[in-house]
Amino acid sequence: MTNNPSAAADQAELFRQMAAGYDHAIRVFQPTYDAMLQLSTDLACAAATSRARCLDYGTGTGAALPLLARHFDAVVGIDPGKPMLDLARARVSQELGADATRVTLVEGTTASQPRLLPPAEFDAVHCSLVLMFIESDEAKLSALRALHSTLRPSGVLVLTEILRDAEAGDEQETFALWNAIMRQRGANDVLATRGDQQVHTLMHRCTDAGLRDLLDAAGFCSAVKVFQTLHTSMLVARK
Ligand SMILES: C[S@@+](CC[C@H](N)C(=O)[O-])C[C@H]1O[C@@H](n2cnc3c(N)ncnc32)[C@H](O)[C@@H]1O
Repeated sequence: MTNNPSAAADQAELFRQMAAGYDHAIRVFQPTYDAMLQLSTDLACAAATSRARCLDYGTGTGAALPLLARHFDAVVGIDPGKPMLDLARARVSQELGADATRVTLVEGTTASQPRLLPPAEFDAVHCSLVLMFIESDEAKLSALRALHSTLRPSGVLVLTEILRDAEAGDEQETFALWNAIMRQRGANDVLATRGDQQVHTLMHRCTDAGLRDLLDAAGFCSAVKVFQTLHTSMLVARK
């Protein structure tokens, strides 16, 4: 996942500690989280040429899985964090009942298990708030190449990412607004500070141009930005 073992350990620890509180915290940190997930999962379906199989890469607590399972015959959720996956498993069984068998959960990453993703396996890949936790451009590119390879011809990638503004002044303004909206939505000092720290110390955000370069280099074409809220953008790209 990263070239820096201590950063990797910090992130794994973050998601181990955060697992139980994640579903609450993410809605404070991402004020449009539910709307984004609805849009990104609908887009994965709407833009896919077939609805057989969808991958949710970096599924976390699996919030996208029941939404994707409404559209696709089979959904695979992959994540390196066992506590996050345990919550995803509980969510799937609670929300999908008998249809939970259509969802498979796998622990790992494209870096930890290079053969994790079979070629040309999926009609759509959904990847929400994940790439920014991969440390170097090289490692991000390698993950994007694996996602590209696992898509069927003309398969679709829906990618939601926290980006970095190219201009330092814009970056400051965006963060001031982000902090204000978190507090407006009920974050106390501790939560708002934690959100700020996580973005600045544990994330490795690309600029919009940097992300597009990586998508190009991984083989994706025609990346379209379909949504933006503060520093978070959603892009749809095709194999
Ligand atoms: C902010 S959460 C996003 C979870 C979920 N996709 C969502 O939208 O709520 C980031 C997730 O990415 C996972 N993650 C971190 N590095 C990863 C990697 N290299 N490959 C796949 N998942 C990774 C973490 O374990 C964590 O569950």
